[in-house]
Amino acid sequence: EFHLAPKDVAYSFDGPFGKWDKVQLQRGYKVYKEVCAACHSLKFVSFRDLADLGYSEAQVKALAAEWQVPGIDPDTGEATLRPGLPTDRFPLVYPNDVAARAANNNAIPPDLSLMTKARHDGTNYVHSLLIGYADPATYKNAEGKSLAQEFPEFSTPPGLNFNPYFANLNLAMAAPIAADGQVTYDDGTTATVDQMATDVAAFLTWTAEPKMQQRKQTGTWFILFLLFATTLAYFSYKNIWAGKK
Ligand code: HEM
Repeated sequence: EFHLAPKDVAYSFDGPFGKWDKVQLQRGYKVYKEVCAACHSLKFVSFRDLADLGYSEAQVKALAAEWQVPGIDPDTGEATLRPGLPTDRFPLVYPNDVAARAANNNAIPPDLSLMTKARHDGTNYVHSLLIGYADPATYKNAEGKSLAQEFPEFSTPPGLNFNPYFANLNLAMAAPIAADGQVTYDDGTTATVDQMATDVAAFLTWTAEPKMQQRKQTGTWFILFLLFATTLAYFSYKNIWAGKK
């Protein structure tokens, strides 16, 4: 078995009382924008949603305007690109699948909006996938076996990349986060490869389930209400039957 289960990363949003770390989500957004957005869209997310990350209305406007989205020229009526508005969705990267494949060795970079939901243990998967590239010639699995020993037929074709966290083992995406400092964080966090992978995985968890924190909080209140209602029912039962033997 050469396919690996993702490594567990500790996140602030884990567990029933989990909360977003907004500064981390902002870092993850920056990694998405500066690295992933070259190939991957985020078509279910609107710029105004970025307010969840702790940005003010003015900041959201400014962030949206950094993107070019398809629009109509008001004078000529022709299709054109214009700066994004808070109400716009993140733009698509390629006009169609043929163009996407042409630019990526015949593979389509999937939309990342729901990726952490689409894959098992998605947050950890995205993190592990990003840091998990390996050399198939020297790679050894948990039992210490090399690919050549186990599967003499195995090869990584030109243009593909070996990654044991990817179900097919060979992936059309080359390691997108390749060097420390690829992104400069605004909060002074050191941008190691692992940090960038951790942060973008957190950001993509938010895009896939922006209401996760509310869901967990509602759940907590619901359990508390059930405990209260049960106590009330118990004491009213005691009261009603008091005096009966
Ligand atoms: C596939 C994430 C940057 C091209 C994927 C997958 C994920 C992902 C989660 C899906 C793997 C699966 O299907 O299970 C990211 C992240 C990036 C990033 C988080 C930024 C840090 C890029 C860049 C490119 C790219 C910059 C293009 C130069 C592709 C392609 C695939 C892919 C072509 C399809 C691979 C295949 O099916 O063989 N990426 N990606 N990605 N990505 Fe990226």
